[in-house]
Amino acid sequence: MPIKETVSVAPSSAYRLMHPMRTVLVSCVGADNKPNIITLAWAMPVSMNPPLVALSIAPSRYSHKLIEETKEFVVNIPTIDMVNAVFFCGSTSGKIRDKFKDVGLTPMPARKVKAPIIGECVAHLECRLYSQFPVGDHTLFVGEVLEAYANRGALAGDVYDIGKTKLVFHVGGDSFATLESKILRPKI
Ligand SMILES: Cc1cc2nc3c(=O)[nH]c(=O)nc-3n(C[C@H](O)[C@H](O)[C@H](O)COP(=O)(O)O)c2cc1C
Repeated sequence: MPIKETVSVAPSSAYRLMHPMRTVLVSCVGADNKPNIITLAWAMPVSMNPPLVALSIAPSRYSHKLIEETKEFVVNIPTIDMVNAVFFCGSTSGKIRDKFKDVGLTPMPARKVKAPIIGECVAHLECRLYSQFPVGDHTLFVGEVLEAYANRGALAGDVYDIGKTKLVFHVGGDSFATLESKILRPKI
């Protein structure tokens, strides 16, 4: 058997080996109607029928409380030109800041939920809370997608035009990246 040279990573840091992760801005609103934004790298689709997405959010986040209060949120997809806003919304808390105002993002009415969409993002998935589970030191919020839409021109057919729509990937810490405009179509 050949032997591979490896570098060990502490199990508590193993998640870093799964990054870069495509990063989203989740908008939510509390019972007091004040909207907030949280940056999340740990967000993914988990079911097509019903259409479900999952977000892993630590209970210490202000957004955790807001989503529990109103049971709604919007997953907004930012582009790399918004990377400063992505980092800001992931480094400050809505407990003490109005992130929409401070970072200059535009709240716009959603179609089905009370939480606003973020105007500058290229796509939006409006969700109603479907279920939630404690998972270690985070909570997994599963949302049912009620409405989903993308900016005209952001897609090539039914997928992102990755040459044009430069999504944000979190590498780790304060490092971000985007995809190069090259599509591979493996033959099997
Ligand atoms: C790139 C990036 C990704 C992040 N991903 C997550 C995540 O998946 N889950 C989480 O709980 N916090 C994540 N955070 C941290 C929160 O975004 C951060 O604590 C934020 O300030 C919480 O805002 P809030 O208190 O207004 O809800 C991330 C931060 C950054 C910069």
